[in-house]
Amino acid sequence: MLVIVVVLSAGAFLLTSWLVSAKEAEIAETQTQNAATLAELDQEIEEIKARKAEEERLRKLEEAKKTAAAVIANPQKSSTIDASTCNVSGTHNDPSQIDVLVNKKHCVQPLSYAPTDLVTAYGATLSAKAITQFKKMYEAAQAAGQGFSVTSSYRSYSTQVSTYNYWVGVSGAAGADTYSARPGYSEHQTGFVIDVANASGSCALDCFGTTSQYQWMQKNAAKYGFIQRYYKGYDDITGYTAEEWHYRYVGADVAQDMKTKGVKTLEQYWGLPGGKY
Ligand code: DAL
Ligand code: ZN
Repeated sequence: MLVIVVVLSAGAFLLTSWLVSAKEAEIAETQTQNAATLAELDQEIEEIKARKAEEERLRKLEEAKKTAAAVIANPQKSSTIDASTCNVSGTHNDPSQIDVLVNKKHCVQPLSYAPTDLVTAYGATLSAKAITQFKKMYEAAQAAGQGFSVTSSYRSYSTQVSTYNYWVGVSGAAGADTYSARPGYSEHQTGFVIDVANASGSCALDCFGTTSQYQWMQKNAAKYGFIQRYYKGYDDITGYTAEEWHYRYVGADVAQDMKTKGVKTLEQYWGLPGGKY
């Protein structure tokens, strides 16, 4: 009798154990399937988010292109010479002179202006009025082991159309206006400006401010008549955010005087308005 009871108990135990294992396996299987379903849903959600972000990016790009096209198709604000809106001061307004002021309140007049004395040296195309001092500065930087390269210099009105349009595509018109001049409002059109980078060109734009070449320029550019045109913290005066790479030729007298007096902008030095359009 005892044997029968023991055998039956053992059987019942084994059956229960098997049922429990089977149930556990079933639960584990269901959990695995659920986890896989959740992962698929997560992936789908991520894909939808990415699609929406891409759609939003394209929508903004389309909007920016339309704005740029409107600005370019209707350059009134830029192509009609209207002293009241295009050059509010009527002074420092001859683009062939090194004392010209070009900013959002002082356009280049006439808008079609191109210097007649452009010369190219060491990768820079500049007015003859600036080229000699530029060459000396370039050679002095090299001799000091702080050689730089030129990434942009003279830009015609039509080049500025493409440049500005490109940045509008990247940042939208309002964004581009904080760092790129509308056609007719860039001092690059005067032939008195260089944008520089380290010697290999690998460290340009914002990167340039971190280099020893930038330190050299800060110390020496004024001797050659060049000034950093857009310093940090002067956006309201110049109309633009800082550009450690953009140097304007104003002649050594003005550049050194500004340095001695600690004046950081041409607007302040000449007492003329700047800021927004
Ligand atoms: N980046 C300067 C403001 C220009 O476009 O002339
Ligand atoms: Zn520049």
